[in-house]
Amino acid sequence: MASALRRPLLAGNWKMNLTLTQSVELARLVVSGANTASGEVAVFVPFTAIAVVAETLKGSPVRLGAQDCYWEASGAFTGEVSVSQVSDAGGQMVLIGHSERRKLFGETDDHVNKKLGAALKGGLTPVVCIGETLEERESQKTWRVLETQIAGGLKGFAPADLAKVVVAYEPVWAIGTGKTASPAQAQEAHAFIRQQLKNIHEGFASGCRILYGGSVTADNVDALMAQADVDGALVGGASLKKDFLRIM
Ligand code: 13P
Repeated sequence: MASALRRPLLAGNWKMNLTLTQSVELARLVVSGANTASGEVAVFVPFTAIAVVAETLKGSPVRLGAQDCYWEASGAFTGEVSVSQVSDAGGQMVLIGHSERRKLFGETDDHVNKKLGAALKGGLTPVVCIGETLEERESQKTWRVLETQIAGGLKGFAPADLAKVVVAYEPVWAIGTGKTASPAQAQEAHAFIRQQLKNIHEGFASGCRILYGGSVTADNVDALMAQADVDGALVGGASLKKDFLRIM
């Protein structure tokens, strides 16, 4: 069981899915099933759905986030969305450095670092995503990759600034593949990540929520959540289905 210091967070990442009508329907379902007595619930929706989902979630404890943001405040950055635009639309949180952003859109730890700075400055709760590829795991590079992503992404912040940061460990080989890290593999990685966070600041590390992501389902969530350093889940595919109700 994760520490009582850390409130569990169960989050859905809807990725590039759903029409506005479907988004509202799913948001209603999440509100109806959210059991926030035992933890926090959040959904990360496409930019275009933030405003309508915010309306649906109004008055409920379910939190709302964007899947990305840009670090500049405004200006000639065609296609990008700023932190203040996310908040203006009703977003309270933001995913930063998801592996799909890193792999498909060339995001680097430096970009993650800048986005994190902008999110913290703008008052959004950032969820910084890290994780190794299959090739990296098989060539024993997992720890080095995680260490580099944490050091690069989180560099330069005072411990007080980092207090709101959530980290998501998402092994790339487990995302959308149906292959989940075993509870022991997840715990090993989460404990390693917490140790890295301790190198930044002890108090930050013990309070920081580390979520697991990668083929989380209603069937495997309990065993993952039973691990000492697993403080929640970031759910992709299963967050679009009724399964998410059971996961919550
Ligand atoms: P899946 O749950 O579909 O594997 O996706 C995980 C993920 O990328 C969440 O951000």
